[in-house]
Amino acid sequence: MTKKFHIYTFGCQMNVHDSEKIAGILSVSDYEFTDSTKKADVIVLNTCNIRQKAEQKFYSELGRLEKIKKDKPALRIAVAGCIAQQKGDVLFNRFPYVDFIFGPDNIDSLQTWIKDITQNTGHVTQTTALRHNPEYHTKILPVSREGRIRAWVSIMYGCDNYCAYCVVPYTRGRERSRPWNDVYKEVNSLVMEGFKEVTLLGQNVNSYGKNLQDYMDFPDLLKIIHEIEGLQRIRFVTSHPRDLSEKLIDTMRNLPKICNHIHLPLQSGSDNILSLMNRGYVYKVYKDKIDILRTAIPDIAITTDIITGFPGETEADFQSTINALTDIKFDGIFAFKYSKRSDTKALYLPDHVDENIVSRRLAEILKIQEIITYKKNKLLEGKTIEVLVEGISETNSDKLTGRTSSNKIVNFCGNEKDIGRLVRINITEAKQHSLFGEII
Ligand code: SAH
Ligand code: SF4
Ligand code: F3S
Repeated sequence: MTKKFHIYTFGCQMNVHDSEKIAGILSVSDYEFTDSTKKADVIVLNTCNIRQKAEQKFYSELGRLEKIKKDKPALRIAVAGCIAQQKGDVLFNRFPYVDFIFGPDNIDSLQTWIKDITQNTGHVTQTTALRHNPEYHTKILPVSREGRIRAWVSIMYGCDNYCAYCVVPYTRGRERSRPWNDVYKEVNSLVMEGFKEVTLLGQNVNSYGKNLQDYMDFPDLLKIIHEIEGLQRIRFVTSHPRDLSEKLIDTMRNLPKICNHIHLPLQSGSDNILSLMNRGYVYKVYKDKIDILRTAIPDIAITTDIITGFPGETEADFQSTINALTDIKFDGIFAFKYSKRSDTKALYLPDHVDENIVSRRLAEILKIQEIITYKKNKLLEGKTIEVLVEGISETNSDKLTGRTSSNKIVNFCGNEKDIGRLVRINITEAKQHSLFGEII
C-alpha cells in the first residue's frame, strides 16, 4: 500500500513554494498526499517565525499531533521551515515525538531521511540537517505544484538586509541567486507543461544576480523570461524600495507580459522609524519612486506592508504613516502589529510601545485603508479588464475565478473551457476584496 503524507504550511509564498518542493520529494519517494492527518505516515510542518502569532499556531498544531503519534507510533513527524532553522535541536527537548528537523536550505536532506525511514521503520530518526549547505541554490528539486495555471519559481534564497525587526536573515541565511539559466529552464518547462503565469520569488528580487559568476541583473532576467513563447504573465515578489531601479521600471513598462502590479513594502511613513528599522530609504525617496512608477505605468496597482508600533514609534511617527497611506493611496496593504523576534536588533531598542496603543494604531490604519481600497475598486465598475481564468471559484461553485494583471480577483459566470485563458470581463460590481463581472 502506498504510504501517505500530510503537510501543514505556515507563512509566506516562499514557504508555500517550499512545501511544493517537500511534496515533490515525498511524491518521487512513493508517498501520496492525504488530507487526513490520521491516515498520514509522515507529517511535515513547514513553519514560519515572522511574528509571534505564526509561531504560536505552529506550537498548537504540533501539540495536537502528540496524541495522534501516541495512537500510531509508526507516524513520523518532521519540522521544516524558519522555526526549524532558528530553534534547531532545542525543539527535540520540548517535543520528543518530533523525528526530524530541517531548515529551508536543507530541503534536499529530506531525500535521504525519507529513504532511511522506509528501511528502518519503527526507529526514531533524530537527525538534524541544519548543516551548512552552500550549494543549495544550484540544486534542482522535484516540485509538486498546487495549481495548473500559475506557478511559483524561486530565483533567490536568503536575505542580507537585516531590517531591525526581521528574522528572515537568521532563518534563510545569506542572499544567494539561482543561476539564470536554471531559472530560465524551469520557467520554460513549466510553460511546456501548460502553465500560463509565473511568479518569481525572492525576499528582495531587485538585487537578483549579485553573487552570480555569470552575472545577470533582475531586469535582464525578466527580459529573457519574457521571450518564452506561450507564457502569458510574469509576476514577482518582493521588491525592496531601496533597490527599485529605473531600469526595472522601464523594463516593466516595455514588456507586456509583466503584470501591472508591484508589492513595495513601505513599513512606516516616518523617517525616524525607517532609520531605526534599517530600511535604507527615507519616505521622500519611496514616494518619488512611486511617482516615477505611476508616470511610467499609469494603471499600475501598488500594494505594501506596514508595521505599527515599532519600538520608539510616537503618535507623530504614526501620523506620518497615516499621511503616507492617504497620500499614496495603495491598492491594498498588509498591516501588522510589531512583534518581538529573537536575534533581531529591534529587541534591544528603547521605548517599546504599549500593546493597547499598537492595537489601536493597527485598527486605525486598517480602517483608513479599507475605504481607499474600496474606492479604488469602485473605479473599475463599468470597465473592461483582461482576466486570466484560474478555475472554479472556491466560494461559489457556479462561478469561475481569475485575476486581473493588477492582481485583483474577479468572479464571473463562464465556461470551464476558459480555464487557463485570458478573457475580457466587464466589471459589474466591485467589493472590498474582489470584483464581479460578465464575460464579453
Ligand atoms: N522580504 C520581504 C518581506 C518579508 S516578511 C520584504 O522585505 O518586503 C513580510 C512582512 O512581514 C514584512 O514586510 C513586514 O511588514 C512584516 N514583518 C516582518 N517582521 C515583522 C515583525 N517582527 N513584526 C511585525 N511584522 C513583521
Ligand atoms: Fe526581512 Fe528586511 Fe529581508 Fe524583507 S528585506 S526579508 S523585511 S530583512
Ligand atoms: Fe515566515 Fe520564513 Fe517566510 S519566517 S514569512 S516563512 S521567510
